[in-house]
Amino acid sequence: MSKTIAVIPGDGIGPEIMDATIRCLDALDCGLDYEYVQAGVVALEGPEKDLLPAATVDAIARHKVALKGPLTTPIGGGFTSINVTLRRKFDLYANVRPAISFPGTKARYENIDIITVRENTEGAYLAEGQEMLDNGNTAVSMIRNTRKGSERIVRYAFEMARAKGRKKVMAVHKANIMKTSSGLFLDIAREVAKEYPDIQFGEMIVDNTCMQLVMNPYQFDVIVTTNLFGDILSDLCAGLVGGLGLAPGANIGADAAIFEAVHGSAPDIAGKKIANPCALLLAAADMLDHMGMVAKGTRLRNAIRETIDAKDRTTPDVGGTGNTDTFGDAIIERIKASA
Ligand SMILES: NC(=O)c1ccc[n+]([C@@H]2O[C@H](COP(=O)([O-])OP(=O)(O)OC[C@H]3O[C@@H](n4cnc5c(N)ncnc54)[C@H](O)[C@@H]3O)[C@@H](O)[C@H]2O)c1
Repeated sequence: MSKTIAVIPGDGIGPEIMDATIRCLDALDCGLDYEYVQAGVVALEGPEKDLLPAATVDAIARHKVALKGPLTTPIGGGFTSINVTLRRKFDLYANVRPAISFPGTKARYENIDIITVRENTEGAYLAEGQEMLDNGNTAVSMIRNTRKGSERIVRYAFEMARAKGRKKVMAVHKANIMKTSSGLFLDIAREVAKEYPDIQFGEMIVDNTCMQLVMNPYQFDVIVTTNLFGDILSDLCAGLVGGLGLAPGANIGADAAIFEAVHGSAPDIAGKKIANPCALLLAAADMLDHMGMVAKGTRLRNAIRETIDAKDRTTPDVGGTGNTDTFGDAIIERIKASA
């Protein structure tokens, strides 16, 4: 039975890396069909004249799974981030960002394998009620964390850890100072952890976590945390494995899931065909896991790993002399060889 997903190529390098990714998915013979829809500046400047057209939202709602290229949110003009809007519209409460080492890439550490599970819908990151008071001399915004929000993200982290055979979940907080907002999150993390005696639970204050990640990242397995801390920590983790070029991300809710590269639309290299497609490809592998095609997801990850390791037709950012298309070709050869 075929399954249709919404495909949003996006802006800048988006269409180039999406093309390589779809070719790899086809080589895996996943039985996927694609409904192509637009978002971002390409949609604003196209016939849709809207950063996030209704047809795109409708396609995500119907298919429940989307693969998304990076989107440019125009600076100024009162445009809100399309990514934030999508998270809100579909209540995509879990932002899952794996940071995994690839051999031969420029990175501070080898053999890193950390997954950050970030709450995606509440907390300081939303800057709710932000306003300037006192003639522009005082800035305020509110932090709202809820039992529902904390409970479902911690539970998601434990369920994911169990499903992936991970050993340890670390709740990261600042409850020593932010006694209400972060304190609620920590209390609930402790409560939920008791339901998962098979998985080790730890808790760590966020500033110490930053230092520990840089000094000894091997002590971490799964990190679960609130929105703003997760935003920062997941980029720190990406830095440990050589930057955003190999960092996938997933935004998951009860009714929809959107898989994407963590990096942006890279306008400086758009159209040059030198963009590394791996972050989006790794997001596609996570999408296959999510859709129950775990063996195919693993084959895709292995093909990416072997291609990078061999520096076979890879893009310059991972030490090769190839381009986006040749990188895709090299991965496809390995996918087919693994059939
Ligand atoms: N998920 C998203 O849709 C998303 C995420 C971040 C930024 N953005 C948007 O992207 C635009 C550009 O943002 P930015 O320049 O700050 O960040 P960026 O991630 O687009 O680029 C940062 C640097 O990394 C390089 N780079 C990024 N992806 C690469 C790849 N796949 N292969 C090789 N090199 C790569 C770029 O060339 C650039 O030098 C902005 O409009 C921003 O709003 C979108």
